[in-house]
Amino acid sequence: MGTILVVDDEKNLRRLLRDALEAEGHVVHEAAAGREALEQFAKIHCDLALLDLILPDLNGLQVLRRMKREVAEIPVIIMTAFSEVQSAVEAMKAQAADYLCKPFDLDELKLVVQRHLETASMAQDFRRLRELEVGTHQPAQVVGESQSARWLRQMIRQVGGSEAQTVLIHGESGTGKELVARGLHHASARRDHLLVEVNCAAISETLFESELFGHERGAFTDAKSMKKGLVEVAHRGTLFLDEISEMALPLQAKFLRFLEERKFRRVGGTQEISVDVRVVAATNRDLQALVRDGAFRQDLYYRLNVIFIHLPPLRDRQEDILPLAHHFLQAANHMFHKAIQRFSPEAERLLTAYPWPGNARELRNVVERVTILEADPIIRPEHLPPEILGDRAAAPSGPIDLGTLYPRPLAEVEQAYILAVLDRVGGNKTKAAEILGITRQTLRAKVGQPG
Ligand SMILES: Nc1ncnc2c1ncn2[C@@H]1O[C@H](COP(=O)(O)OP(=O)(O)OP(=O)(O)O)[C@@H](O)[C@H]1O
Ligand SMILES: [Mg+2]
Repeated sequence: MGTILVVDDEKNLRRLLRDALEAEGHVVHEAAAGREALEQFAKIHCDLALLDLILPDLNGLQVLRRMKREVAEIPVIIMTAFSEVQSAVEAMKAQAADYLCKPFDLDELKLVVQRHLETASMAQDFRRLRELEVGTHQPAQVVGESQSARWLRQMIRQVGGSEAQTVLIHGESGTGKELVARGLHHASARRDHLLVEVNCAAISETLFESELFGHERGAFTDAKSMKKGLVEVAHRGTLFLDEISEMALPLQAKFLRFLEERKFRRVGGTQEISVDVRVVAATNRDLQALVRDGAFRQDLYYRLNVIFIHLPPLRDRQEDILPLAHHFLQAANHMFHKAIQRFSPEAERLLTAYPWPGNARELRNVVERVTILEADPIIRPEHLPPEILGDRAAAPSGPIDLGTLYPRPLAEVEQAYILAVLDRVGGNKTKAAEILGITRQTLRAKVGQPG
């Protein structure tokens, strides 16, 4: 079913077409001339136009071109007399969808209209998907040597290939939740179907239901044509619900019902539609705490939390920092046509010591920025942003890395620390004293009197 604009100066033919198309369930608008057609076209949202090439005011070809300029994807079917075949050819060159020679068979007309409406609706779905699809074509690759990175790779293989219908991913911002969602999709038999991403924080509460479940034509004022929801578009593939904690409570109830029954109705629709989708939900919030506060439905939480993947922050898996930094460096070299070779040992030490509140994403951004800006083949501390050098210049705020200090007595630790600082600043006592927050005299006294 669609909304169709019929443009022809012959009243009887318009009437005939209207009756035939309305009988098929389409909504029909009419125009008797070119200008009127363009006015109507601007006013109504139409899914397809039937256009006579010979009109009293404008040339049909002009009308066609104007329509295509306004809405590139609109299918326009040309109606011509047999003697105008040459114009029909020109019309096809001007991107008409098809042409019908007058007098035409009404059944043929209905078929042609139906076919083009379907193609256009598919083209629309694809365009939406290109905007929505999480996936680049590249399967995701989890980089890292920590226990948790290894576990994660194994998890993606196992869960990805399983029949699991729901997966919940939790992790701070930038820890790789989207990467894992992509990995799960690519590791599954669903990989040839779509991975559709929905950011629950980005869609207004009023639109959300129709975005997810779609709507029938006329379901509400703006619903000029039927639209498939993302759940339907993801059929046989994966639906990635990012920031699931932001889903409004009334919608949570509806979504839970969908998870349990794997069936839904479009907004304004009566028919139940079944789909086969794997739902991967992600959050950086503590859902359990939200459940306690009444901000998240407990039953939905349990329903989602069948397989739980927690991504620890980067500061808790320091072994991953350098492998990730090297991985991002290679990617950035490739992307920006640079040939930076490596990080200096001191730069590596700083990268490892920094707590990375923005996790892997922050690390990637830092590496990209340096790659773009620097010409030096080796990345040194002075190339790194100040927050990473922070603990060299200002007082450290994070917990101290015990390293070889534990379990030595305080006096000995003080001594070792002072010597390490002196070493770091190249033996410059003024600088060392400044960092240590003591006078040069005190420093000299302390270094001079061990124990
Ligand atoms: N283990 C990893 N190996 C390789 N790349 C990673 C890894 N973890 C994260 N990344 C990269 O870091 C960036 C951020 O990851 P991603 O977008 O998946 O994080 P997120 O958890 O979804 O963040 P947010 O909560 O902010 O949406 C991406 O470019 C991703 O490819
Ligand atoms: Mg994300």
